[in-house]
Amino acid sequence: MFQNFFGLFFLSALAQLISFSGTLAECPLPISPQSVVVKFGDSVSVNCSSSVTHMGMGWESTVGGVHLSTASLITWRVSELTDWDIYTPFCYINYDKQQCVVALPVTVYKTPDSVSISTVNLTMIEGNLYELLCDVHNVAPVQKLTVNWYKGETLVDQTNFTDTTKSPVNKTSKLLIRPDRADDGAQYRCEAELNLGDEGPQHPPTVTSKSFSIKVHYKPKHSRSTEKISQSDDVSLNCTVKANPAAVYTWHSKHLIEKISSSVIQSSTLSPGNYTCTAANYLGEDSKVFIV
Ligand SMILES: *[C@@H]1O[C@H](CO)[C@@H](O)[C@H](O)[C@H]1NC(C)=O
Ligand SMILES: *[C@@H]1O[C@H](CO)[C@@H](O)[C@H](O)[C@H]1NC(C)=O
Ligand SMILES: *[C@@H]1O[C@H](CO)[C@@H](O)[C@H](O)[C@H]1NC(C)=O
Ligand SMILES: *[C@@H]1O[C@H](CO)[C@@H](O)[C@H](O)[C@H]1NC(C)=O
Ligand SMILES: *[C@@H]1O[C@H](CO)[C@@H](O)[C@H](O)[C@H]1NC(C)=O
Ligand SMILES: *[C@@H]1O[C@H](CO)[C@@H](O)[C@H](O)[C@H]1NC(C)=O
Repeated sequence: MFQNFFGLFFLSALAQLISFSGTLAECPLPISPQSVVVKFGDSVSVNCSSSVTHMGMGWESTVGGVHLSTASLITWRVSELTDWDIYTPFCYINYDKQQCVVALPVTVYKTPDSVSISTVNLTMIEGNLYELLCDVHNVAPVQKLTVNWYKGETLVDQTNFTDTTKSPVNKTSKLLIRPDRADDGAQYRCEAELNLGDEGPQHPPTVTSKSFSIKVHYKPKHSRSTEKISQSDDVSLNCTVKANPAAVYTWHSKHLIEKISSSVIQSSTLSPGNYTCTAANYLGEDSKVFIV
């Protein structure tokens, strides 16, 4: 009865139903291993052995099936597993006027062909919200995929997928960031990781994107808005401040006649008074008063 298509479909449905509970309590059919994780195109073999005398046992599967046999150990064997949507194979036995089956859960996986980061806004402005995209190409099964986002060496976000498609898919994970000035040049990367469980490879297979360095534009901001300078000191009025793009400097004082565009003035050349320096870029400006 197990040899025809009707039986195959009926039992396949039954096997799908029991595949989560594994061995039916009363079915004397140990299979080894009890579930398999196979890389697409790799070979796989699973033993099914009976611990009782029987009238026949077999493996039912769309690939690698074993016909009704009187042996006590039969092996489901596929030299190249290339079926993404393989029906759960099962081993069956006819014994003592009974029949029973044990299902073999099979996971077929493939690591992605590529993992890459992109963004629509190549230059970011401090304080705004941006999206980084991680494109994962041609990976299966997506339900076992985790995308890890790293900033430098720190894990900053993680995406899992609930999609049950078994064949390879393309997936995009998004990371929202609000960069500040300290993040100019920060390195982001994303990593596609397949968590295949204990039956899978010892280390979960991963594919990592290239590092993606972000450019952040920010306006100049002085740490102090005034500074007292003693004229006797041979020091300078240093208005240099970090900004991206670099700031342009202008000086104002009733004591200055010439236009100065450098960020530093030697104090020894100056008369006592206030000197105001303004640093500016396209995002804004910030002034600082030097009191000599
Ligand atoms: C299956 O049984 C054969 C014969 O006993 C043994 O050589 C082989 O290692 C077994 N394979 C598995 C996967 O248990
Ligand atoms: C990012 O780029 C998109 C498309 O050019 C634009 O619509 C959006 O305003 C930009 N976002 C920011 C925060 O600049
Ligand atoms: C994603 O899946 C991994 C592995 O199954 C798990 O360790 C992690 O906690 C999950 N992360 C989230 C955010 O659900
Ligand atoms: C994934 O993307 C590649 C390249 O863009 C495309 O050729 C392929 O058909 C896509 N696969 C799926 C399942 O959409
Ligand atoms: C001015 O300050 C900047 C930043 O603090 C510093 O790098 C630079 O050497 C200073 N220049 C002078 C002439 O002191
Ligand atoms: C110089 O600047 C300081 C601080 O902004 C202010 O209190 C003072 O009145 C200014 N002096 C002159 C002569 O403008």
